[in-house]
Amino acid sequence: MVELSTQYAEGFLPGAEEEAELLSAVKAAAQTLTDGSGKGADFLGWQTLGGDINHAYNAGRHGEYQRMKAAALRIQEQSDVLLVIGIGGSYLGARAVIEGLQGRYRNELTNGLRVYFTGNSLSAADLADITALTEGKRFSINVISKSGTTLECAAAFRYFRDLLSRRYPDNPEEVKARIYATTDAARGALKAQADAQGWETFVVPDDVGGRYSVLTAVGLLPILAACGAEASDSLLAGAAAAEAAYAEDAQSLSANACWHYAALRAYFYLKAGYKAEILSSYEPSFVMFTEWWKQLFGESEGKDGKGLFPAGVNFTTDLHSMGQYIQEGERLFFETVLQFEAADNPLAIPSADSDGDKLNYIAGKAFHEINRTAFTATAIAHQGGKVPNLVLTVPKRDAESLGWLIAFFEKACALSGYLIGVNPFDQPGVESYKRYMFTLLGNKDPKYDPVREELITRYGIVL
Ligand code: PA5
Repeated sequence: MVELSTQYAEGFLPGAEEEAELLSAVKAAAQTLTDGSGKGADFLGWQTLGGDINHAYNAGRHGEYQRMKAAALRIQEQSDVLLVIGIGGSYLGARAVIEGLQGRYRNELTNGLRVYFTGNSLSAADLADITALTEGKRFSINVISKSGTTLECAAAFRYFRDLLSRRYPDNPEEVKARIYATTDAARGALKAQADAQGWETFVVPDDVGGRYSVLTAVGLLPILAACGAEASDSLLAGAAAAEAAYAEDAQSLSANACWHYAALRAYFYLKAGYKAEILSSYEPSFVMFTEWWKQLFGESEGKDGKGLFPAGVNFTTDLHSMGQYIQEGERLFFETVLQFEAADNPLAIPSADSDGDKLNYIAGKAFHEINRTAFTATAIAHQGGKVPNLVLTVPKRDAESLGWLIAFFEKACALSGYLIGVNPFDQPGVESYKRYMFTLLGNKDPKYDPVREELITRYGIVL
């Protein structure tokens, strides 16, 4: 379903010998994923999420998919607004799918459930805005945190739980019925709270890390509530088909688009000196998908002093801001373009009697066609500016294609990590700022004693 074209990367691609080496390296990386013999092997559960949920349905660890569907219907019935509280891998996937399918203005356009994402910053202004959006509305909360201790998420949850309790001061049962917690099966503060309070819970499997978790309850419950069961089923069906397709052995890179993409990324990084990859798409509804992709690759590859820096642009918008740099600035990056084959809207340029705006030469042309022409023109221009363009095409902007793309990028990311020699499933670097933040906030845990000492002696901060 995902086609990879290298037409606009000609002149920058590996030769036959290098391609043969890449094929055997990516085969070995794929085998490592299959037999679980590589770094981070405890976190390989994402590889079969689409297939598992589809086929096992009522059995095994994903028996709760039916329960998610029931909860989503209840959320729709009991609420005008759903607040999805989570950060990083605990929100980007759901938001990427919901906006990718229903567009950026779905909340303004729907007569049904509005879905707002919060707990993904510490901004008081943002919390106040979300609070205003719940005014006079019945709202429910889906709090999502695998660890259960992430500050942004926990603080926003406490804040909105308090708001919910004030909405229903004499009715704790109503408050309880409006909170859905997605977290670890057994560990963490959120799990303990949920058990104590009797909130309905959904599981983030042990063997699935945050940024690989969109096809668990982390993504599926908000997606079911916003887009419905048919969309969620199709998303999983697309992912299941991709999982099966990319598990097959291939005799050439061009026979497996996922291997091919991972191999070319490794080639550009390890052999051709590129330092960054730009993901571009020509659909504004895909801005959040790009954000999801940035986290997936950034957190998975960026460690041990290695990794392509993942950047994202939204064309044609950003051709009028970042376009100049991409065309003529430092030659640091290659580009990966996400394209949709089918038009999802027939809107066209109207004809006009007077040609004051000089647009009659495109009168009657569909916007989709003009957008596609902009893509072709940009790919040619960027290739000419020494930015190789890899083009990934999917049939249309629908749930099945999105499911396929998610499985495609997750597998490509894991392969890429192994190809450059890092563990694609950990994120030790994100702990660093947290140690300073918790200490500065007054956390007296003895494990922060050395941090406190450093803050006092190096920065003169009195704590
Ligand atoms: O991919 C990851 O592991 C992270 O981005 C986490 O998803 C993010 O930090 C949120 O963590 P948690 O779900 O534990 O609150």
